[in-house]
Amino acid sequence: MTADRTVAPDAIRINGVDCPVPADPRVSLLDLLRETLNLHGTKKGCNQGACGACTVLVDGERIVSCLSLAVQHAGRSVTTIEGLASEAGLHPLQQAFIEHDGFQCGYCTPGQICSAIGMASELQRGVPSHVTRDLAADHIAPTHDEIRERMSGNLCRCGAHNGIIAAIRDTYAEAAE
Ligand code: FES
Ligand code: FES
Repeated sequence: MTADRTVAPDAIRINGVDCPVPADPRVSLLDLLRETLNLHGTKKGCNQGACGACTVLVDGERIVSCLSLAVQHAGRSVTTIEGLASEAGLHPLQQAFIEHDGFQCGYCTPGQICSAIGMASELQRGVPSHVTRDLAADHIAPTHDEIRERMSGNLCRCGAHNGIIAAIRDTYAEAAE
């Protein structure tokens, strides 16, 4: 993933809007999103990198925003769950989560969806996981095992995992075939 060179070095582009980098270098990206910008779709679960609820995309790569300082993202583009839908409707993966019952409480859902979008890009680029057999493959298929392994950093405690995996497979299987 390449950085967007049109973002000013003292700004962070968040869902297409440039925001000033916070003056306080201790502010995490998660707290900038939730507390300064009122983008509450990105959830705070553990606040220590263990649950994945705070996952967002930075220049298309998934990261846990609680472990990341906002100042580290100067000049970059951040996409949160609020930035995925368009005037045309929901992102296809958001729609698939609805169709496959991919959530119960829904607290983990924004992180799951952002994470899965980043994961799909990794599969497309042939980035291997622990369960990938062909390490030289250009593209990796979104198999059940690949999705389970790659989404293991996103916890859902109420047991919607099967729906989550079905939604991801449905959305990305066609693109991989
Ligand atoms: S809140 Fe960031 S990983 Fe749990
Ligand atoms: S849907 Fe409840 S924790 Fe994920």
